[in-house]
Amino acid sequence: QAPVTLDTAKAVPTLPDAQTVTEVKHYTDRLFSFRCTRPASMRFRSGEFVMIGLMGDPHPETGKVKPLLRAYSIASPSWDEELEFYSIKVQDGPLTSKLQHIKPGDQIILRPKPVGTLVHDALLPGKQLWFFATGTGFAPFASLLREPQTYEDYDEIIITHTCREAGELTYGRDLIEGLKEDELLNELIGDGFWKKIKYYPTTTREESAKMGRITDLMRSGEAFADLGVAPLNPDTDRAMICGNLAFNLELKEMLEGYGLVEGANSNPQHYVVEKAFLD
Ligand code: A2P
Repeated sequence: QAPVTLDTAKAVPTLPDAQTVTEVKHYTDRLFSFRCTRPASMRFRSGEFVMIGLMGDPHPETGKVKPLLRAYSIASPSWDEELEFYSIKVQDGPLTSKLQHIKPGDQIILRPKPVGTLVHDALLPGKQLWFFATGTGFAPFASLLREPQTYEDYDEIIITHTCREAGELTYGRDLIEGLKEDELLNELIGDGFWKKIKYYPTTTREESAKMGRITDLMRSGEAFADLGVAPLNPDTDRAMICGNLAFNLELKEMLEGYGLVEGANSNPQHYVVEKAFLD
């Protein structure tokens, strides 16, 4: 009998949860985004996340392969035909060391069970909506910024994005620029919708137009002066936080200091938090 060899290329996803990659864009040696097909029956709310990944390497003794999955915010809006993700590349990261090499036509695994707290349902009505992001924490806001409800529910959207280097702001900046040409948003909300947006990008380790951590810039009052807005107030301001753990904790404490209360799907309040994916 001929030996049975494991053809990993064929053995990989004949799985029910496989989706096909349609586009990949690399931004820096640490960041990339990609798009893939969307399961026909999958519904989600803009801002939610899903588990995605690849098949792991075969077990050295048993030869069994298991999926390697991580939580990823969906960066595309709920109405989009495809799904988009924004990812870090960690050279020795179990998943992203492999995921960074995907190409159009490749398959990824996607468990179609979206969940999350960065959703409109978890916030009480308000006037200003703040999106606070660091690094790849911008992803859920990329979804919410393309969601018409965001502009229907709020007078003004204020986006802060703090990254180490200027190149790490590109994905967010391009996305916000692209909103000006977004036909759906222009049609639904009128051509002034994007004037509702205030964008405040900052860097911490490379020279850029505005330097510093957003937390420090808020504490000193500089961020509010630059933006021409008052500090956050529970009567009018709502906020969503998504970044690294230290950032989330620090900002959460600051928002509580302004009198904002954390909300959840079951108990809508003034702000919500979610941790950005780290490999
Ligand atoms: P810094 O360069 O001063 O650490 P990372 O890539 O490590 O996730 O960080 C993304 C960005 O978040 C960096 O600009 C980093 O600034 C910033 N950052 C890290 N911790 C905090 C924090 N506690 N508050 C505000 N910004 C933070």
